[in-house]
Amino acid sequence: MKSHPLPKEENALASKQIYSRAVEVLTGGVSRNTIFRKPHPFYVASASGSYIKDIEGTERLDFANNMASLIHGHSHPAIIKAVTEQLHKGSAYTMGTEVEVLYAELLNKRTPGFEKIRFMNSGTEAVMTMIKASRVFTGKYKIAKAEGAYHGTYDYAEISQTANPSNWGDIDKPNAVEVVQNTPKGILDDMVIFPFNDIERTINILDQQAGKIACVLIDPVPHRIGLFPATNEYIEAIYKWTRKNNALLVFDEVVSYRVNYAGAQHSYSVKPDLTALGKIIGGGFPIGAIAGTSEIMTVLDPRGTFLKHPHSGTFSANPVSTTAGKVAMELFDEEAVLKLNAFAMKARKQIEEVIKIADVPACITGAGSMFKIHLQENAPNTYRDAYQDKNTKAIVDELLDYLFLEKDIIMINTLACMFSTTLTQSNVDRLSEALLQGLKLVKPKLDQLVK
Ligand SMILES: Cc1ncc(COP(=O)(O)O)c(C=O)c1O
Repeated sequence: MKSHPLPKEENALASKQIYSRAVEVLTGGVSRNTIFRKPHPFYVASASGSYIKDIEGTERLDFANNMASLIHGHSHPAIIKAVTEQLHKGSAYTMGTEVEVLYAELLNKRTPGFEKIRFMNSGTEAVMTMIKASRVFTGKYKIAKAEGAYHGTYDYAEISQTANPSNWGDIDKPNAVEVVQNTPKGILDDMVIFPFNDIERTINILDQQAGKIACVLIDPVPHRIGLFPATNEYIEAIYKWTRKNNALLVFDEVVSYRVNYAGAQHSYSVKPDLTALGKIIGGGFPIGAIAGTSEIMTVLDPRGTFLKHPHSGTFSANPVSTTAGKVAMELFDEEAVLKLNAFAMKARKQIEEVIKIADVPACITGAGSMFKIHLQENAPNTYRDAYQDKNTKAIVDELLDYLFLEKDIIMINTLACMFSTTLTQSNVDRLSEALLQGLKLVKPKLDQLVK
């Protein structure tokens, strides 16, 4: 495979030049912190399948897939064709389109608990709308969420996402910790934070606020907590609590929807009342959605005399995203989901072997077509278990840089891989070999950490 047509120093010149212009016009030179890297980000020339080529000509193998949103990799021909046809007909109108209805039919058929759905523009917006709908439906206002879970950037949903040992407080009653400076105290007061997968503590914490909680927000496979699934007992316990206390169980499946054909929720004996979606359902274009029972979704229904939850959005259900999403999800049928999950599981085992051979304190967690490497001996069960101090984070960054700059491999910045259907066994072999060398490189530092 071709790579680095120029010596590395010259190679980075074009991106360096663009970045020097970028900092003059974009704050920090980026529109999205995820792509920021020191000394500068690299800029893309083109991408196809599992590869992204930057403007210097370096082609990288992509295991990040735009933060888990490209289930079929880059520039899938069927998606290009459908979107191109749609673009000739226009990209957004102040009118409905049939594709929005066709796509709603497809998703509602796919997941048994989806009776009604509404499209919007991002996962953040979907989680926000779901929270507001829960407040309207229950007549209550507090929101309960797991410490460390990422649900996008809505004020309420982001609380305690970056909690750390200096501010997270007692595990029996974790603090509500702001992410953005000067978040109003009222928002912190209205959040109830619990430790993920810890039944006893979670129920105790919920009980203390029982009369005020509108919904319990759960990502069933929370990436930022550590990418391990909620247990069935945990989800059942919360579900029972919500039934007893007139609250909703709401799932953020923006990432985890890929885990089964009908979403990660298919793995549990009880189902959420509402689900937020995003990422893969946009087929590579911006999207979000909330889905749930007709009864609850009525709060968004404009046909009544009194609209309880007005929801619009200039680009909601725009035909480019819904067209791309529909094709992507048609291609990601039951067989494709099972095949990709089996392939990712095989890759995960292969990388576990690599960890053994490298003889480093590391382990892997994951579900479906996603996994994450932790630089610690034992698999974590909680956010606090999985929390990385700054020394460990520095090693993670060194490893990611080694893979990106020396091996031309892109992983998610948490050392996670989100598989697409375009990846092959030889791609995984290349990742394994690169990881073996990378882990050997950082081994002395890792061994030092363990001591
Ligand atoms: C679990 C989860 N929820 C919500 C979001 C927010 O989605 P978006 O970035 O589309 O706003 C993300 C984004 O990474 C996410 O991982």
